[in-house]
Amino acid sequence: MSIETLAETAQALVAPGKGIIAIDESTNTIAKRFEGVGIANSEEHRRAYRELLLATPKLGDYISGAILYDETLRQSTKAGVPFTQVMAASGIIPGIKVDKGTQALAGFPGERVTEGLDGLRQRLEEYYKLGARFAKWRAVITIGDGTPSGTCIEANSHALARYAALCQEQGLVPMVEPEVLMDGDHDIETSYEVHEVVLRSLFDALYNNNVALEGTILKASMVLPGQDSGETATVEDVAEATLMCLKSSVPAILPGIVFLSGGQDDQAATAHLDAMNRMGPHPWPLSFSYGRAMQSAALRIWSQDLAGNVAKAQETVFARARDNGLAAQGRWSRKAA
Ligand code: 13P
Repeated sequence: MSIETLAETAQALVAPGKGIIAIDESTNTIAKRFEGVGIANSEEHRRAYRELLLATPKLGDYISGAILYDETLRQSTKAGVPFTQVMAASGIIPGIKVDKGTQALAGFPGERVTEGLDGLRQRLEEYYKLGARFAKWRAVITIGDGTPSGTCIEANSHALARYAALCQEQGLVPMVEPEVLMDGDHDIETSYEVHEVVLRSLFDALYNNNVALEGTILKASMVLPGQDSGETATVEDVAEATLMCLKSSVPAILPGIVFLSGGQDDQAATAHLDAMNRMGPHPWPLSFSYGRAMQSAALRIWSQDLAGNVAKAQETVFARARDNGLAAQGRWSRKAA
């Protein structure tokens, strides 16, 4: 696979005013989301819900790509049209979550390492044949008393870099996601310091593993005070801290950075992205790859009437895509929300 093709895909993912919808919850994670609104976690419910999201009318106006879970990449609409075909019709690039989740890091209580490298080359080969053109791997970094350790950061960076190199070998753009959780009582300065050390470690590992940054996307968390800290940061505080941190640790050659929402409410996730883009221009496009901040309102509406509320839920998905697409250009206004 040529680096030019990877770079083109990466650039398409962060095209002006467009971002990504993350609908790659594993069967365990979607079980939690469904349980929260009283939906049974059956295969048919998962299929119907993902159909609702992917078939949202005009979704491609603001969405460049969708990250799917293994099961979803193989599923079809009720009428039998493969989801990948539905996506192609709206110009949405299929992506696939390929990590196998996190495990406790032995010797480091409270810390986790993401697994899934064994057999990854073969899985990527199959995902490419199924239509995926980009992939996602999420590492989780927890801020706590004495954490994260250097060992945890290095282990996760190494795995992310090995995954990224394999993706490029198999023709998929790697989206590298080192998520620093907002759980905890740390202040925004601590979040900044941890983000900086994690990002520096990640880009060192990518360099050491011959990963071409021109064909890589960073999925980043925002620099926020811990959610139990009692500290309030303004939208501008978060935007400035996140930007300064990224500028000091992410090479300018990267085609784009997209953010996860990480448990922020919908409006906050959009407002932070919008504020960052208003402070531009920046070395890279800054856009979104939201899961919860794209879906939670729609899931609530759908749960109230699975058969009757599809169109209403899709209107909400479209509205979230539009708002975040505007925020990706610094053109969102709270009134329009
Ligand atoms: P959230 O936006 O819900 O954090 O999910 C994004 C994601 O894909 C995390 O891996």
